[in-house]
Amino acid sequence: MAIRQLPPNLINRIAAGEVVERPASVVKELVENALDAGASRIDVTVRGGGLQLICVSDDGAGMSARDLELAVERHATSKLEGEDLSHILTLGFRGEALPSIGAVARLAITSRAQDEAEAYRIDVDGGRQSPLKPAARAAGTDVEVRDLFYATPARLKFMKSERAETAAISDAVKRLALAHPEVAFSLSNGERTTLRLDACPPGLLDHALTRLGRVLGSEFVEDAMHVSAARGPVRVEGYAGLPTLHRPNGLSIYLVVNGRPVRDRLIAGTVRAAYGDLVPRGRYPLVTLFVDIPPDEVDVNVHPAKTELRFRDANGVRSLLIGAVREALAAAGHRATASLAQEALQHMRPPGEA
Ligand SMILES: Nc1ncnc2c1ncn2[C@@H]1O[C@H](COP(=O)(O)OP(=O)(O)OP(=O)(O)O)[C@@H](O)[C@H]1O
Ligand SMILES: [Mg+2]
Repeated sequence: MAIRQLPPNLINRIAAGEVVERPASVVKELVENALDAGASRIDVTVRGGGLQLICVSDDGAGMSARDLELAVERHATSKLEGEDLSHILTLGFRGEALPSIGAVARLAITSRAQDEAEAYRIDVDGGRQSPLKPAARAAGTDVEVRDLFYATPARLKFMKSERAETAAISDAVKRLALAHPEVAFSLSNGERTTLRLDACPPGLLDHALTRLGRVLGSEFVEDAMHVSAARGPVRVEGYAGLPTLHRPNGLSIYLVVNGRPVRDRLIAGTVRAAYGDLVPRGRYPLVTLFVDIPPDEVDVNVHPAKTELRFRDANGVRSLLIGAVREALAAAGHRATASLAQEALQHMRPPGEA
């Protein structure tokens, strides 16, 4: 067969196979876009496990008519300055998500830029783009995705149950919400709200902890130990659960790097190792770590879903994290002993003395 250039529609559909694996990946991409747009509240509605409908609304920067048309084009992004891939501070950077979603679903975006009077809507249906239409909306953006994967029946066959897809969506929203406590989030199934997270204003002491409590349960935060360490420009802050709280898999170890929730088996293993035999074999502690690292020390461009990254000095980062978690554990142990000693002292005081 002779070599031929693929038509853009097909190219987008192939790219979509990597970028949007399942409904939860669509939700993740859309919420990331809302966060990159500086939203202070993000509302997500999902029906039929996300295959019927996914709608993400934000009050962020919005888009002008021109930007809205460009947003659904492949490799069109406002987030990459120049040609430098080593200073990425936004969650998106490739200009792939919207065109990929538009290639495999019915996509409608309605948006109004903060400083503009008019809102516009654009539709992309299985890769076919319709002209812009005037619309009505306050500043911000609504993205509606209907009939996901209708244009790629092969992918549709691989979907799990509605329940499983809904659970994966909820997990994706929670991970992003955990990483961004200053933003209010809600998740609804069209009939009722299944998750509502108020904004925890930055600057408030332990605002991250309030959000953690809402997402991971109050049981976790009540006794969570504060983790804090730095080495050079790399900082880690977070909370480590008591060793008596554990889960059957490493998903209970949440890692956020420069505002991006990431999965890193090596780091999860490292954190697990820090607990040693304090946690039963085959079980994992509940830990949330926020790492701040200069962007040129990490490569986020290693996985199509942007959920993995590579540290330039992986060993350095791992030893920083293991040290920080160990220190928090030791400090908690110390606190327990200290309060016991306090109690013993009380008993030794002569009667009548306060
Ligand atoms: N909710 C939104 N509010 C404002 N602008 C948006 C929103 N969603 C998308 N955009 C604009 O559309 C562009 C394209 O979005 P898209 O998600 O396709 O790519 P990206 O975020 O730049 O990169 P990536 O493919 O890594 O997500 C963005 O760069 C941004 O300028
Ligand atoms: Mg994006």
